[in-house]
Amino acid sequence: MMAKYTIFAALVVILGLAAPAAGQAQDIDVEKVFKFYCAQCHGVGGKGDGPNVTENFPVSPRNFTNPEEMNKLTNADIKNVVMDGGPAMSKSPMMPPWGKTLSEAEVDALIGYLRVLCNCKGKEG
Ligand code: HEC
Repeated sequence: MMAKYTIFAALVVILGLAAPAAGQAQDIDVEKVFKFYCAQCHGVGGKGDGPNVTENFPVSPRNFTNPEEMNKLTNADIKNVVMDGGPAMSKSPMMPPWGKTLSEAEVDALIGYLRVLCNCKGKEG
């Protein structure tokens, strides 16, 4: 009886801790957003190997799991390039602008997701 209660209490604590994190960024399922809008080029795992990328793609989509490359970008850089597309950051127009498709909260959530994929904090600033 006592043991059961303890497990129950522990669960409540765990769920209680998880809830605010999940509730952040307005309940955005960032993985779903990424898979839907980004994975066709950047790959489901973010390695830059999505099914859209053919041999005649002039540039390869960034591999988000490469911390050296991803550490060259500030979160603001990522936000710029995602909202306004490659050319906003002197990159290829093959990277489309998403500012009209995604909400700012979704873009912010994606930045967090890319930081998880690269396991890096990015450039300061
Ligand atoms: C149609 C293919 C395509 C889609 C879809 C796409 N990207 Fe890209 N992305 C690219 C390409 C190509 C580049 C590389 C541009 C370059 O290096 O000149 C790029 C570059 C980037 C960069 C810049 C990396 C750097 O080093 O500067 C970020 C950040 C990025 N994409 C995020 C995203 C996110 C987030 C999504 C989904 C909302 C997305 N991309 C969807 C093709 C795509």
